[in-house]
Amino acid sequence: MPNFIADHRPGPIGIFDSGYGGLTILDEIRRLMPEYEYIYLGDNARTPYGTRSFEVVYEFTRQAVLKLFAMGCRLVILACNTASAKALRTIQMRDLPVVAPDRRVLGVIRPTAELVGNLTRTRKVGVLATAGTIQSHSYKLEICKLFPDVKVYGEACPMWVPLVENREYDSPGADYFVRKNIDALMAQEPDIDTVILGCTHYPLLLDKIRRYLPEGVTPLSQGAIVAESLRDYLARHPEMETRCTRGGDCTFYTTELPEKFVASASVFLQKKITASRVTLE
Ligand code: DGL
Repeated sequence: MPNFIADHRPGPIGIFDSGYGGLTILDEIRRLMPEYEYIYLGDNARTPYGTRSFEVVYEFTRQAVLKLFAMGCRLVILACNTASAKALRTIQMRDLPVVAPDRRVLGVIRPTAELVGNLTRTRKVGVLATAGTIQSHSYKLEICKLFPDVKVYGEACPMWVPLVENREYDSPGADYFVRKNIDALMAQEPDIDTVILGCTHYPLLLDKIRRYLPEGVTPLSQGAIVAESLRDYLARHPEMETRCTRGGDCTFYTTELPEKFVASASVFLQKKITASRVTLE
């Protein structure tokens, strides 16, 4: 296994997702901090992660993190709830101390959990996410650690990522699945007043989610939350901040064919980009 112990050079901030969903996080991060340089890596050839086992999500995520380290990143954001739920802790506890003790990998669940307890008035929070994230109970565990009085209800939405990845998020078929999962969540506890969109693909479905959530229930997208939390992290860790290269560019990598990635990513980001292919192993 490669190690990055002797390499102290500055580098871009790495943003990783199983596919396109992390682009919703990247977009907000770049809006808030346009000065840094970024690398985006989407494992589009192996998406979705949401239905995969812990072992497989961990292995795929570890490969992606090591690839981003090899590309020079010192700080990697797992812009994927499934990877954050199933792989982050093991990477932080087991891999980083051995291969890259002064590099960092951060996830998206903790910053969301930190905020939601201050937003809910009924103290009842819903989570819509992939089956993997729901089964991991990561949101429940994180939120209850910080806000023991908050009750957390989760609903897995296995069709939502495929709808987004296949650019069907505006179609009538999407209405059926969005409504079905929201109804199932609200049937668990009608007093839920805040719903975490616990998957970085879901902001693409936000119009439909708003349509089917009952009046007064607020959907919480993660992009701005994660961006704010990253800014705060960099302010508290000058040793990392000074090792983040500047220039404002973002280089895109995908494990799929670049033409395919570029066509969909341009829809997500509403601008044209170019991308290169990488293999993860
Ligand atoms: N975007 C990922 C997340 O936030 C999930 C996509 C997948 O299932 O691969 O959970």
